[in-house]
Amino acid sequence: MASKKSFKTLRDILHLDGVKVLLRLDLNVPIQKGKVVDDFRIRKSLPTIEYLQKAGAKILIIGHLENKEDRSLKVVAEHMQKYVPVQFVENYRNVLSVLDTLPPSGCLLLENLRLSEGEESNDQKFARELASLADIYVNDAFSVSHREHASIVSVPKYIPGYAGLLFEEEVKNLSEAFVPEHPFLFILGGAKLDSKMPLVEKFLTRADFVFVGGALANNFFKAQGHEIGVSLFSKQEFNLVEVMKNTKLYLPEDVVVKTAGGKENKKPDQVKPDENILDAGEKAVSTLAVLGRKSKLVVWNGPLGDYENNFEKGTEDFARALSDCGAKTIVGGGDTLAVIHKLGIEDKFSFVSTAGGAMLDFLVQETLPGIEALKKSI
Ligand code: 3PG
Repeated sequence: MASKKSFKTLRDILHLDGVKVLLRLDLNVPIQKGKVVDDFRIRKSLPTIEYLQKAGAKILIIGHLENKEDRSLKVVAEHMQKYVPVQFVENYRNVLSVLDTLPPSGCLLLENLRLSEGEESNDQKFARELASLADIYVNDAFSVSHREHASIVSVPKYIPGYAGLLFEEEVKNLSEAFVPEHPFLFILGGAKLDSKMPLVEKFLTRADFVFVGGALANNFFKAQGHEIGVSLFSKQEFNLVEVMKNTKLYLPEDVVVKTAGGKENKKPDQVKPDENILDAGEKAVSTLAVLGRKSKLVVWNGPLGDYENNFEKGTEDFARALSDCGAKTIVGGGDTLAVIHKLGIEDKFSFVSTAGGAMLDFLVQETLPGIEALKKSI
């Protein structure tokens, strides 16, 4: 439940000179063959690091990494050198001695928090240990703030907690969806209708147009009585027939299916039992682009197709169309961002969120555990 109180931000702190700051960042970036392949989250963290450096703080960065190849943040520390000198500290036991010799404006980066047992279990002893390393805590990891982990919800119980610049920017921009300018187009793609249905229901009451694409649409096609072949759908039962009576709801009017011979564009009621719906069709994308041009605000999370497996055309064509539609455009979600970064059009959107799951949770609840923790901080 969101409390009305607001949280304090970095800009509320009067003196930072020589102050030890525990800075929680989201350093969960894609890594391939030992190299960071997309450093968007790192770049978006730089204004807070630079702000703290200018003010003379001693910065102790903490973060997590989920990666099949290697779970050490060492690679991230190496990559960060290109922007800011960072000293990597592998062992938490050495932090205090290194911190003592750290000059003002210096930066340390600690090893992956999730390699310590207490992080994900939100262990209070671990949270107190983290808190004891610094004078204040700054959360600039909005995109992890849906997790009730020690470094997100418990550290600010023990030392004063503040929001970083990116955190503030995320809250401000994503909150536009709650008091939107109209016409407002809300677009949801990807999979897992089970977790996204509350968003569809909520934004049917707030937006003027709600477009449901990606694998999410397959449940709706099924509810219309159409064959969806071997396409991905959510097993949970929903009363979609009732939802589909809402005239604000838009589904793809054509789809791209994988057939034995390749790809085919067809209407949703023409899909055969052995086919797989994997992308939005051309008509669907152009209708969506028209809705974008009619709108003053567009919020988009989730790809329109299985872009990782060569069904990227719908998402890419729509991303290009949206990037110059004239509306305020707010986009997020790891897969959506991957497409935008591949096309190199990041700068053409009004706001590109660093968050995936946290964006969805925030849009439903209008708060996050990490936000509430900052509001309650000592
Ligand atoms: C993300 O990548 O969305 C955040 O870093 C959170 O990661 P998680 O889903 O592993 O908690």
